[in-house]
Amino acid sequence: MKKTEEDIRVINVSKIFNEAEPFINLMMQYRCAVREIETKLYVLNDEYSVRFARNPFESIKSRIKSPESIIEKLKRRGYELTTESIQENLTDVAGIRVICSFVDDIYMLAEKLVQQDDIILIKKKDYIRYPKTNGYRSLHLIVDIPIFLSEGKKHMKVEVQFRTIAMDFWASLDHKLRYKKDIDNQDIIVEELKSCAETINDIDCRMQQIRYMIEAQGNAKKLE
Ligand code: GTP
Ligand code: MG
Repeated sequence: MKKTEEDIRVINVSKIFNEAEPFINLMMQYRCAVREIETKLYVLNDEYSVRFARNPFESIKSRIKSPESIIEKLKRRGYELTTESIQENLTDVAGIRVICSFVDDIYMLAEKLVQQDDIILIKKKDYIRYPKTNGYRSLHLIVDIPIFLSEGKKHMKVEVQFRTIAMDFWASLDHKLRYKKDIDNQDIIVEELKSCAETINDIDCRMQQIRYMIEAQGNAKKLE
């Protein structure tokens, strides 16, 4: 099979891990774990669209951490550069971001996902109820999910981030600030972002209330 440019890049970087093959295999396994979670989320979306005529999420973005970022994070935290070390020490090699319209849907989806009997919740960080000081809001789950390979079952860790569209908009601008050095007026930008985070929180709450009001009327009409 002809190797793509991406394959060659992964092979070059993964030589650091003694052998390229175990590393490439591990990345394949993380991709499978992402697929499993994505399918579970799409199943829930399908079910809700038929039963309640609405979609609990708007979109999903998935990514596998690049080999460069994996190496950088392991080095930064003083861990060994081995495939075992990746699995023991990193929980965000496989990442899924679920973008919802409403805050309620975030909690509903997270609960329905974690309830499934092949999923184990390893860690939950609720930055919606307890936002970070910079204003960052999202619900983060680290989950364990089995994948079924030819030689048997393997447990994989996946990071699932749930955000509203508004939170995602905010986080992508904040991300730009984090990765740009030498920005003028840093203090003003930080304050302004924080203020925007509060406005966004307010809007998310109001949008949720509007939806409740519309739904309540729909339910009342059904009873008439
Ligand atoms: P990392 O080592 O950076 O992965 O952070 P962590 O292990 O402390 O985990 P945490 O759950 O706090 O953050 C994981 C991920 O959430 C990050 O990699 C980002 O994608 C996102 N995140 C967390 N905090 C912020 C923030 O302040 N701004 C933005 N834009 N994203 C954030
Ligand atoms: Mg991370």
